[in-house]
Amino acid sequence: KYQDLAMTPPMGWNSWNKFACNVDEDMIKQMADAMVSSGMKDAGYTYINIDDCWHGDRDAQGFIHPDPKRFPNGMKALADYVHSKGLKLGIYSDAGSQTCGGRPGSRGYEFQDAMTYASWGIDYLKYDWCNSEGLKAEGAYKTITAALKHAGRPIVLSICEWGTDEPWIWGQNVGHLWRTTGDIYNCFDCIKDHGSWKAFGVMQILDKQDGLRRFAGPGHWNDPDMLEIGNGALTAGEDRAHFTMWAMLAAPLIAGNDLRTMNKETAEVLTNKEVIAVNQDKLGIQGFKAIAEDGLEIWAKPLQGGDWAIVFLNRTTSAKKIDYDWSIQSIYDDINKLAASFKATTYKIKNLWDKKDKGTATTKKAFKADLPAHDVIALRLTKTK
Ligand code: DGJ
Repeated sequence: KYQDLAMTPPMGWNSWNKFACNVDEDMIKQMADAMVSSGMKDAGYTYINIDDCWHGDRDAQGFIHPDPKRFPNGMKALADYVHSKGLKLGIYSDAGSQTCGGRPGSRGYEFQDAMTYASWGIDYLKYDWCNSEGLKAEGAYKTITAALKHAGRPIVLSICEWGTDEPWIWGQNVGHLWRTTGDIYNCFDCIKDHGSWKAFGVMQILDKQDGLRRFAGPGHWNDPDMLEIGNGALTAGEDRAHFTMWAMLAAPLIAGNDLRTMNKETAEVLTNKEVIAVNQDKLGIQGFKAIAEDGLEIWAKPLQGGDWAIVFLNRTTSAKKIDYDWSIQSIYDDINKLAASFKATTYKIKNLWDKKDKGTATTKKAFKADLPAHDVIALRLTKTK
């Protein structure tokens, strides 16, 4: 089945957030090498995705070719290299006449481009929405879905339409993920005004996910955009918070930093296996904000086996004392009708960042902790018999 390609949120790397139009085959190969040597592949990352600006021209028959200077050996050789590392290669196009970076778009060439990508061995297509005047989003994306299916190679489709046309309503059998917002900005809590459009900090993107969780599930995910972890603007706590919240949202985990030069701290965030397990949980249920008070939010995500991920997110610029009384708080997922009942069940508590066991969640004992500014405490609650 089409949706089987992404039964859990896709994990990988993409060139845009850090490199924008500055892509070439050497860099992509080095990124594949670094994905393996950094431990990211072992942690579950699979896709190496080239974003905008890889393109050269179309030839007289309409076939698209990569920029011969940047990709002298061509895309097939690059895909072979990436595959030889046990990874997958993603590419980028646009539903309109040109990409956002002014390269040839796929409009009018959808079936030809899909066949070309399949012949190269491409595994993932991010399909953008610039220069799409006169097109209807649902129809335009359905055209590329049909083209990819016709090309006959399993290719994950990332719908990049920025949420304007509510892709969560129609995207489920069209693509495997759909962007819910405009672009992320490398900042924790701010908006960047570009004049004709705005880019959003991590917290602003988070707030824009309200109401969307019912549309996500295995095979089809809300995409709050790629990660800014390790790109220099966020503190260590903010990096943790960004990663944890994307895990709670069952969001695609697409790193956007330079994997070749990342420091230990960044690598430890991106490869935190227990946080990744929350993201990749087989139930595929997107988490939700259970409580918000004075800049402290408590998020919950039901996990398989009756487990829960519980996250305390401090959005303020001052430290907070957590004193969480399990007996007065009820955690209830009103869409999936799942409840964490601390009266009926005793859960073991594991802190997913300091990796320590924190006793049990019982009505007799509150959970106490110090939570620094712009940081999270992420817990996994495991049912005991
Ligand atoms: C807009 C998208 O939202 C970005 O993620 C990126 O792909 C750029 N276009 C590339 O031009």
